[in-house]
Amino acid sequence: MIKLEHITKIYGQGQENLCVLEDVNLTLRRGKFTVLLGPSGSGKSTLLNLIAMLDKPTSGKIFVDGQEITALKSESARAKVRLNKMGFVFQFDGLLPEFSLTENVDMPARLRGRPNPKIAQELLEKLGLGAMVHKLPADLSGGEKQRASIARALRNHPPILLADEPTGNLDAARKEQVFKDFAALSREQNLTIVMVTHDVHAADYADDVYRLENRQLVKTN
Ligand SMILES: Nc1ncnc2c1ncn2[C@@H]1O[C@H](COP(=O)(O)OP(=O)(O)O)[C@@H](O)[C@H]1O
Ligand SMILES: [Mg+2]
Repeated sequence: MIKLEHITKIYGQGQENLCVLEDVNLTLRRGKFTVLLGPSGSGKSTLLNLIAMLDKPTSGKIFVDGQEITALKSESARAKVRLNKMGFVFQFDGLLPEFSLTENVDMPARLRGRPNPKIAQELLEKLGLGAMVHKLPADLSGGEKQRASIARALRNHPPILLADEPTGNLDAARKEQVFKDFAALSREQNLTIVMVTHDVHAADYADDVYRLENRQLVKTN
């Protein structure tokens, strides 16, 4: 699965440096929904970006399915792992306004040269958006758009879903729906989900919960 070993992240150099993570060890269980909690500025996005290989740790190793991803030398090697194994959901849905929901959700497959709108529509149906497959993002509520972006993240069937504050723009009821979706997806599709958030209510829906504080991770359930 995903394993972080002795991860330290220091931004900057010399006197100006900022240590955000210090000797963090973490095992993310396959098929489980893990929530990493922490206030703004605690290093949540930093940690997620290291797993996504968008940034490198100052020291330490990260393994995905036994492969040391921190040892990958080229951007193309990292991109390949990302494309094959990871889906991403962010605070902003990132849907393209001039494309229908079906086209938006199918985009990751189209970029790989394997478009199939039917699969995109099945994913939308699974997330309760079956009636909206032909609509434009502007016709949807914030919660619906975020669920469409989850469908898009799942389009290439990644075994891992990484989510950075995916409910940051949603009201309480919509947040709860996203947490429930994640819990159900991890259970039903054996999807490994890592969500970072400052929303402590997310803990109620997760299999594993950690809190990031003082540069360290503490298990809280
Ligand atoms: N690229 C960067 N360069 C320097 N400092 C950064 C950089 N990215 C984040 N930081 C700092 O690291 C700390 C943690 O940031 P971040 O991981 O974004 O926290 P969170 O996602 O929990 O709000 C913050 O103090 C932030 O200002
Ligand atoms: Mg953040």
